[in-house]
Amino acid sequence: MEKFLSPTHLLVSETDEKGLIKYANEDFCYFAEYPVEELEGKPHNIVRHPDMPKEAFKDLWDTVKRGDIWRGFVKNSTKNGNFYWVYATVFPYTNSDGEKGFLSVRKMATKAETQKYDALYKDMRHQHHTGRS
Ligand SMILES: Cc1cc2nc3c(=O)[nH]c(=O)nc-3n(C[C@H](O)[C@H](O)[C@H](O)COP(=O)(O)O)c2cc1C
Repeated sequence: MEKFLSPTHLLVSETDEKGLIKYANEDFCYFAEYPVEELEGKPHNIVRHPDMPKEAFKDLWDTVKRGDIWRGFVKNSTKNGNFYWVYATVFPYTNSDGEKGFLSVRKMATKAETQKYDALYKDMRHQHHTGRS
């Protein structure tokens, strides 16, 4: 079953350099259907939905590792097998101790956006499977 964000929802999470979750806010936990204790220390692919093409995450990691901000549409899974779409902005940062990490802020995606990216990601997965370029 699809869950829908409202315009006021902001789903925030933070990871270390390896993508292990250090922090998740209340809206993130509510949509992902996990208590925060079950997220802390886990790889962020815990919410990965199988419909997401791996190229999207390669682009995300390539972008933030070179110090740039990544923006994109993401379909996530919930603990109980539901899903939700977001528009994500992922920021790289270095804190005052020199530790690097990443912060993601997610907001509502419109119906038109989710339809567009649902179709695009389906094509990307298909091309990947058939080896077409
Ligand atoms: C700050 C941050 C937030 C992320 N948020 C998500 C997310 O909400 N959903 C997701 O599937 N992957 C997210 N990722 C990417 C995952 O780390 C992972 O690369 C992705 O789920 C694909 O899994 P895989 O690398 O095991 O193939 C995030 C990464 C970072 C650095």
